[in-house]
Amino acid sequence: MKHRRLFVALTFASSLLVATANAGQLTRDNGALVGDNQNSQTAGAEGPVLLQDVHLIQKLQRFDRERIPERVVHARGAGAYGVFTASETLTDISQATLFTAGKQTPVFVRFSSVVHGNHSPETLRDPRGFATKFYTEQGNWDLVGNNFPTFFIRDAIKFPDMVHAFKPDPDKNYGTNRTLFDFFQHVPEATRTLTLLFSNEGTPASYREMDGSSVHAYKLVNADGQYRYVKFSWKSQQGVRNHDPRQAQTVQGQDFNHMSRDLITAIDAGNFPRWDLYLQVLEAEQLAKFDFDPLDATKIWPEELIPSRRIGSMELNRNPANIFQETEQVAMAPGNLIPGIEPSEDRLLQGRLFSYADTQMYRLGANHQQLPINRAKAEVNSNNQDGAMNSGARVGEVNYEPSTLQPRPQAASARYSNLPLDGMTQQRRIAREQNFRQAGELYRSFDRKKQQDLVQQLGSALGEADVAARQTMLSYFYKADAGYGEALTRVAKGDLSQVRALAQALVD
Ligand code: HEM
Repeated sequence: MKHRRLFVALTFASSLLVATANAGQLTRDNGALVGDNQNSQTAGAEGPVLLQDVHLIQKLQRFDRERIPERVVHARGAGAYGVFTASETLTDISQATLFTAGKQTPVFVRFSSVVHGNHSPETLRDPRGFATKFYTEQGNWDLVGNNFPTFFIRDAIKFPDMVHAFKPDPDKNYGTNRTLFDFFQHVPEATRTLTLLFSNEGTPASYREMDGSSVHAYKLVNADGQYRYVKFSWKSQQGVRNHDPRQAQTVQGQDFNHMSRDLITAIDAGNFPRWDLYLQVLEAEQLAKFDFDPLDATKIWPEELIPSRRIGSMELNRNPANIFQETEQVAMAPGNLIPGIEPSEDRLLQGRLFSYADTQMYRLGANHQQLPINRAKAEVNSNNQDGAMNSGARVGEVNYEPSTLQPRPQAASARYSNLPLDGMTQQRRIAREQNFRQAGELYRSFDRKKQQDLVQQLGSALGEADVAARQTMLSYFYKADAGYGEALTRVAKGDLSQVRALAQALVD
């Protein structure tokens, strides 16, 4: 032990010495000084470049490897550090200690658009990601949400198909409304979220002026193992501001990085954006009492039925210094949960629990949780080991459990809660689909200008769909609200009597 300490001290001291010797001069990755960064080493004045110019070779090799796989969705994003301050103590419903009044927890937030690639215009119509990593004393908790409070689908098995339909067509490398609605004519549960997407909510003015939502229900679990279902939402203290179609076009012509630029500029100027975190709570026995399924991610929990309360606030106050190492390498995953916060049975969330960690092992590698941006502030003491780029802190001879040599007890308090179950395995749609009602309520909540912008945008997009797909889609919006459906049918040049007949056959 003494020897190791001495070795560490010596290595550290000598690294300091070398750093001093280099004094800010250009080096290679091994720390050796570079003699000439302008001219390759050549065989004489006329001869070829020499392979022995290791600086040149390294420079080209490293450049050739600068890209890692882009996120398969949410590729374009902007991140910032900050702090979450709890305003309520929730020990009665959760053993997660970050929910202790006055307690501060450091966070990293990454906002993003969804469909379009890295460096794509931020003016494009899209839902926006709102993902928060809380570095709590009990481990990292990631609340990976969106600005929209609902999602297009309710079952993870549809996600790859949905993303394919949204992304550029494989034979063209640009997206078309023909394939988009060819898919969505089979997905009536998307009616509410498509309404949001084609409204001005689909083109937010800035990340600072955007709300956020967990979309899914999670479970909060207390020390007695009792659980309740909850939804989280962020409310912007800056208010919500969206672009209408004309403004979006104008901004796109001027600065299509407007959302990243706004966030970075505001934080640099000390104008720190803030959000309040709200919680809605349902007892398990209340789940059956609604005419919709509260664990269906295509639904909101209406405030008038399930009021929310403020449980804390967040301030973002520091920009990343290295976008790649921080914003690009951050790995937000709904499976990063801590004792006291568990997933609900929401079928979409259940698929996400697998998908994020899986893609991050591919995108960043098996040891991505050791990267500084992802590393837990709580001690990590697992037996997971080795793998590419391992810089973890596991030491000693015991890399298994149980062990008498190095006992590492489990915490009974961290056991998952118990869910009562009966019945058979099955592959069926949920019982309370109610695909259209909340879409109609949303449409009616918009003012006239917002309704007109929506009808114009969605109606002209539907006009590009094949006739049968267009008629089916129009019947969904008609079923949500007859006035909405009629207005869309006019813009999309659909057949209103057929739309009415199709809508009549739909069940809400
Ligand atoms: C089954 C449905 C879904 C699947 C399979 C899925 C899958 C993914 C994947 C693979 C990524 C890339 C992650 C990475 O490379 O780090 C991602 C990113 C993201 N997803 Fe989803 N997603 C789903 C639904 C949702 C929903 C419902 C929301 C919102 C509640 C959401 C919000 C996000 C956000 C915010 C990011 C970006 C995280 C970041 O900034 O790094 N996704 N999703």
